[in-house]
Amino acid sequence: MTGTDKDAIERAILAMARDTDLLAKVEAEPDRAPELLGIDREWAETILSGNRDRLRAIGLNDGLTILVSRWFNDDLGDAASKGGFIVDDTLPLPTPDVPGNVVFAGGCSHVPDLLARPEVDPAEAVARLMDGYDRLKQDIAAADPDVILVTADCHFQSFETGHNVIGTGAEHIGSMEFFKRGDLDLTLAGQPELARDLANAVRAAGLEVEEAERVDLDHGLIVPLRLLLPRPELPVIPIITQPHRSFSPFNARRFGAALRGVVADSGLKVAFLATGGLSHWLDPGHFGGVDVEFDSYILKLLEAGRGLDLCSLEPFPLLEHGQYEIQNWMIMLGLIGPGVRGTVYSYEPMEASGGGWTVVNMDLARARAAVAGAGQAS
Ligand SMILES: [Fe+2]
Repeated sequence: MTGTDKDAIERAILAMARDTDLLAKVEAEPDRAPELLGIDREWAETILSGNRDRLRAIGLNDGLTILVSRWFNDDLGDAASKGGFIVDDTLPLPTPDVPGNVVFAGGCSHVPDLLARPEVDPAEAVARLMDGYDRLKQDIAAADPDVILVTADCHFQSFETGHNVIGTGAEHIGSMEFFKRGDLDLTLAGQPELARDLANAVRAAGLEVEEAERVDLDHGLIVPLRLLLPRPELPVIPIITQPHRSFSPFNARRFGAALRGVVADSGLKVAFLATGGLSHWLDPGHFGGVDVEFDSYILKLLEAGRGLDLCSLEPFPLLEHGQYEIQNWMIMLGLIGPGVRGTVYSYEPMEASGGGWTVVNMDLARARAAVAGAGQAS
């Protein structure tokens, strides 16, 4: 092990891109490539073979990986790459750095049919999904948070901008009337002070955010919170993304990371629940499709503690594979930081309700134990 990491591999690619003499030297003497590039032989060979799939698997973006085939090798057809999405566990997992007072993080789908008309999907699949929600509910209750931040995407609310929205109201109200179920209503307590502090932190990080006093609740929060909220008076801060107006995996990660300081300084036990997806198409002609293969790739990444690598992907593959709501999860991942492994409680592809639905707990205790272990080792 020579200490090769993702940054070293990225630097090696950029060094060859900038310096044609270096590229020529490496190509002429491939045995010396590790020494010339400062990386392990295995990764030097990966670069020299033009294997973009594997480089993407460690979180390098497509704009960078395209250099190794089309430019270093003059391989216009990317012959060494299949375009597959793989989880590469070769590089060491970054040491986790979860803000100390984050007591829970996880994610789940918010499909309206689950509460409004569960009979459209197979009963056994619905039962398995609901088991996952039950387990997650126990996790949240055990964490005993003072406040819960919840992401969902905009479905029916009308906001002023295309930015992510933070609900700053003292109360949030809504129902599932759009799905013929006005009886499935919900009233939540807000947490205006912390919500405004979070918005200020996002702006301070150079990102745009819309503060909204009024966020009309829809299934995005009603479905998960009717199933998971441990006590009705627990304050909730809604964070609403707008994928139809702005889809940026990079900014979603940055948005989540921007919240870390305020969360850490809040003096509160903070829970974060991401809601939405996985694969899910809203547009007619595509609705009802489920991309089980890509959903499985995402779940494997989460289980491997490499979920943040999703944020390095281009919007194109994500949207092509139906990941319209994945930004909601990326904000959560940005907040908790790298190296946190997820435990998948449920995953059910459901064509009638239109997506691959999942329930995942992020294992914060294991992440903290890994930090303690790393500390002892050093
Ligand atoms: Fe949604």
